[in-house]
Amino acid sequence: MYRWFDERLSLSRFNKKFLNKAFAVHHSYFIGEIALFAFITLVITGIFLTFNYEPSIRTVKVAGKAVSAAYASVLYIDSLPFGRVLRSVHHWSASIMIAAAFIHLLRVLVSGAYKRPREINWFIGLLLLVVAIVTSFTGYSLPFDAFSATATSIGYGIGTSIPYVGEWISQIIFGGEFPTLHSIPRVYALHVLWFPLILMAILGMHMLVMVKQKHTQPNYARKVAPGRILGVPLMPQQAYMSTVLFLLYLAVVFFIAGAYIAHPIEVYGPPTASTPAVKPDWYLIWVYGILQIIPGDLKIPLPFGAVMNSEFIGSILVPGILGLAAVLLPFLDTRSTKMRYMELPTKHPVRTGVTFALLAFLITTTLAGWKQELGLSAGQLWFIILGSSLLTYLVVYYAIIFFWGRPSKEDAGAV
Ligand code: HEM
Repeated sequence: MYRWFDERLSLSRFNKKFLNKAFAVHHSYFIGEIALFAFITLVITGIFLTFNYEPSIRTVKVAGKAVSAAYASVLYIDSLPFGRVLRSVHHWSASIMIAAAFIHLLRVLVSGAYKRPREINWFIGLLLLVVAIVTSFTGYSLPFDAFSATATSIGYGIGTSIPYVGEWISQIIFGGEFPTLHSIPRVYALHVLWFPLILMAILGMHMLVMVKQKHTQPNYARKVAPGRILGVPLMPQQAYMSTVLFLLYLAVVFFIAGAYIAHPIEVYGPPTASTPAVKPDWYLIWVYGILQIIPGDLKIPLPFGAVMNSEFIGSILVPGILGLAAVLLPFLDTRSTKMRYMELPTKHPVRTGVTFALLAFLITTTLAGWKQELGLSAGQLWFIILGSSLLTYLVVYYAIIFFWGRPSKEDAGAV
């Protein structure tokens, strides 16, 4: 049978070229794979959800109470055998994909794997992270409970705050001021079709570029086989390892999802006239935190009557500046021309210090999301955010110098 297909499709040529590719082995390389497994799990559990979900806000009666059809269909999913667990697995996998993609980004950052020739995969990766977050966000609105209505109207407000084109973008995404009759079907199409297709296409490119360029080599390869590409073939070793990891991923995520049901919609209930005070999911709280500590009435006039308001500054401009810095990084750090080995964080104190400072910034801006509960003023929170970021940088930088010594001229790159 193999020969029959081989004669027609030249499978052996493909096998020789692709299935024998050497895959470098290092524990940190499994993080990217976990992001990939979470995405696959999202697609599979998502198919189950689409079979039972109704993307409509027409009114139906559940136990004598008038609710939207979308809300009722999620209650129906929860009532199916394993329905609630599968919905919970879907929600948890979204969080895990974003967390794994971010930790994977940090790994690429501290090991210098963004440098030439891997800049393209660094840019594709940044795009992946943004699209993954936007895709997750579009999922918020679908259960149409009090949480989703509030969170999505915040998203609508953020969209409209973009000078010149915001109104237009929000209209396209939400079909009018959220929630209109058109919002749910439109966001649904984006969430289950267009964004997953875009994610698949970008992920495919990410993998192709990685296979073409070959993985950065772990440091042990320098000692074991200097100057040579060290790794296991995709088939069967890498495939076995990845299958085991995927099964392990499923075991852990099913356990977590069963023990801690994500987003129990009956707790939130259907949307009410009064807006409940809800916070977004954990990966967006840092943006919400920034919005809490910049003056709400801030308005910077722009040409042709447009304005930059606080919503735009907090939720698009600040993340945009961080994104721009990430895009510029491979152009600023150009020392290594053909990097083959992972760089050690301890040999790059500036870059490692900045990475930890970024983490401190994200953690403290996330804390600012609890401004009311903490009882701190915006000024005090700004002091904590900027102070702890700077302090973290100094502590990490000097700790590396103290414990590992100053990097040699050869090790210390532009960053
Ligand atoms: C859903 C999101 C993502 C998935 C599923 C994913 C998946 C992967 C996988 C499986 C690998 C090979 C194994 C590894 O190095 O871990 C890889 C490599 C790589 N990824 Fe990602 N990735 C994602 C997001 C990102 C992000 C956010 C960045 C950075 C901005 C990034 C940059 C890179 C780079 C530069 C490589 C090559 C690394 C090397 O050769 O050492 N990826 N990715």
